[in-house]
Amino acid sequence: MSIKFKVPIFDVKNLSYTASGQEILSNISLEIFNSEYIAIIGPNGGGKTTLVRMLLGLDKPSKGEVKIYGKRLKNFKEWNKIGYVPQRASHVDANFPATVLDIVKMGRTSKRKPFSRESKEDKEAVYDAMLKMDVLDLQDKMVGRLSGGQRQRVMCARALASKPEILILDEPNTGVDMVSQKRFYALLSKLNKEEKITIVFITHDIGVIADDIGRLFTINQKATICNNPKQALSCEDMSKLYGIEAHLVHNHKHGH
Ligand SMILES: Nc1ncnc2c1ncn2[C@@H]1O[C@H](COP(=O)(O)OP(=O)(O)OP(=O)(O)O)[C@@H](O)[C@H]1O
Ligand SMILES: [Mg+2]
Repeated sequence: MSIKFKVPIFDVKNLSYTASGQEILSNISLEIFNSEYIAIIGPNGGGKTTLVRMLLGLDKPSKGEVKIYGKRLKNFKEWNKIGYVPQRASHVDANFPATVLDIVKMGRTSKRKPFSRESKEDKEAVYDAMLKMDVLDLQDKMVGRLSGGQRQRVMCARALASKPEILILDEPNTGVDMVSQKRFYALLSKLNKEEKITIVFITHDIGVIADDIGRLFTINQKATICNNPKQALSCEDMSKLYGIEAHLVHNHKHGH
């Protein structure tokens, strides 16, 4: 009888990042498993974006190793399994000459051979991604004309078009109103629960999604991982993390 061990999607060991002689991240170890919903929080400049970029091989660690699906990063090729919405992805020039449909289709390019025609599978994946992010009615709109909330959903649809198993979102919520934000959170939660898509979400809006997330990573040069996010969200912990008298809004209804 063989015992199968669960291989994490990401397996990070003793990762450090140094820039301009300064250690930005030190000795980060973490694992991310299939179907998890993880939130990453931490102060500005704490290293959240840097960590995610190292996970994706976009920044090179000064120390340590990243494995994806058990493979060393340099041997990993199935990038279509990973959807990434970078920070500031939603800032688009007002005159950018592309429709929403064009943008979501771009999410398929990693799956296609260069210059090949769009297949039925491509079309279905694009439709499905737009349906899941509730942007079908926007498909002919110019992307530069969208509101912040609409753009956020379009960028996620683009990431979803490659049919990823994991979606990594780097703070896509800046400048989006509360109602749109809640609608977006509901879509993410549905993706996680119904489609079993693993979600890694960098956000400052932790109180609002506390019910959805399974684990919380706090990043401030080092990583702290907590398995019980709600318990971890005490003001004292937040003050320590952010280095100020943090006041956490647990629920927008009671918020300030
Ligand atoms: N290539 C680089 N060269 C110099 N400094 C860098 C480099 N990359 C990142 N940094 C620095 O590392 C620190 C962490 O940046 P990072 O963008 O990861 O933070 P963050 O947690 O994502 O912040 P925010 O919440 O503002 O998005 C910052 O002080 C940043 O200036
Ligand atoms: Mg960042």
